[in-house]
Parts: sequence; structure tokens; C-alpha cells
Amino acid sequence: QVLKEGSDLDFMEQQLMERLPVKQVKVVPGDEDASPQEVKSLLGKEAANLLIASYHGDSVVTVTGGSTMAAVADYLQPVDDVKPLFVPARGGLGDLHEYQANSICVKMASQTDGEYRLLYVPDSIGEELHAKMQEEPTIVEVLQLMKQADIVIHGIGDAETMAKRRKTAAETMNKINEHQAVGESFGYYFDKNGKTVHRVNSIGLAMDDLKERSRIITVAGGRSKCEAISAYLKWGESDVLVIDEVIARHLLKEY
Ligand code: F6P
Repeated sequence: QVLKEGSDLDFMEQQLMERLPVKQVKVVPGDEDASPQEVKSLLGKEAANLLIASYHGDSVVTVTGGSTMAAVADYLQPVDDVKPLFVPARGGLGDLHEYQANSICVKMASQTDGEYRLLYVPDSIGEELHAKMQEEPTIVEVLQLMKQADIVIHGIGDAETMAKRRKTAAETMNKINEHQAVGESFGYYFDKNGKTVHRVNSIGLAMDDLKERSRIITVAGGRSKCEAISAYLKWGESDVLVIDEVIARHLLKEY
């Protein structure tokens, strides 16, 4: 049974808002793993509406990559007199092109008649080059913008799925497995207690930057991400949670 009575979902939203350290929760019916296209579209649509409602004048929006964020971009629309600027949250995570934050920013800007900036960072660069790149004027400009952003919108992944999707080297894969990472977001892999176990050597928004953001919108769905989302709530910050029913039920059992 995919479609639920609205009141059932409303009740779950109410309960989750009371129990979780977030300001707003939106639950869509179903399990994204069971009906990927349908549920991802529902999540994308709800998150896009919440994002549009958060804009004002010249908002700067920091965005991560992933298929969920791509679905959010699909449902964004122009709003009169609002020209958001989309900035990628991190560069060089080893993501597939269509899932990179850069690509999502371009798509979001085109959907909203807004603007975008890109972060050109090669994947898996060494420490020294990494430090040097952070001094590059074009990168400094984007880093400043992303840190000023009033809105952050991001996805969360299951740790193993993300490590495989990024073709992570065996050594790092072992580290992620040994330390029992369950989730990943912003290039950080964390365990079920919300402890960081690995960080991809990339450039962009750091975990501490999240604390200062005024509005963080977290979007994720699917049974396989239940543990990742529970852990994210211990690891990171979120103001608005857009999740599917299977995750909502899991969180209600855990919290
Ligand atoms: O790789 C970018 C990213 O936002 C990750 O931080 C996150 O784990 C993942 O995408 C989510 O991807 P998807 O929405 O495709 O599950």
C-alpha cells in the first residue's frame, strides 16, 4: 500500500517534530527503494516547494549532489523578483557527473532563472595541492559565497552505497567498513553514533560551517537510508527534514 491517508502522514510529521531536533518535517508516502521514481519525485516536489518558500530577494543556496537533489531541481520554478544564487557545497567528491553538486547547481539555476557558481576541484588530490587550491581566487570566492549562504539543501547516502558509487579505493573502503560507517553527507562518513569515521579530501562546506546556517533542508528516502538518517541527526544539523514514510516510521521507533 503506497498511498496513505493524509492524516496518517500528518500525525507522523507532528510526532517527529516533537521528538527530533528539527523545526519542520514533511513526510511523503511510500518507500523510495520499493518505488524509486515515484517516491523520489514526491520528495523532490515537496523539498522544492519548501526551498522556494525559503527564498528571499537575493538568497544564496548551497547545494550538494546526488539523485535526490537532481529530483529537487526538477520541481523548482521561477519566483517573481527572486534570483537565487546556487553554489555547490563541495567539489571533488568523486561523484558521477550527473550527480555532482556543480551539475545540480546549473540545473537549479536554469529552472529558477537564477544564477550559479561552480567549484572546479579535481577528485582525490593530494594534501599539498588541496591546500594550495583553497588559496586560488576563484575557489576562495565560491567558498566565501557558500559560507554566507542562508540556505543549505542536501542529501544523505548509505555509507556503503556512496563508497561504491564513488569507486573508493580498497584501503579507504576497509576503513569505512571497519569503523562501521552507516551514513554519508557532505563528503563525511559517520557511524550510527554520529561519529565521523572518514572524510573525503575535498573542498567545500565543513561540518562546523553547518552550525551557523539559518536553514538546512535535508532530503532523503528509502529503507536502505534509515540508519544513515538516524545517524545524520546525531552527526549534523537539520532544520527541515523531507523524508519518506519508511524513514519516518523508522525514526519514530528510534526517537
Ligand atoms: O554525493 C553527493 C551526495 O549529496 C552525498 O553527500 C549523499 O550521500 C548522496 O549525494 C545522496 O545521493 P542520492 O540522493 O542519489 O541517494
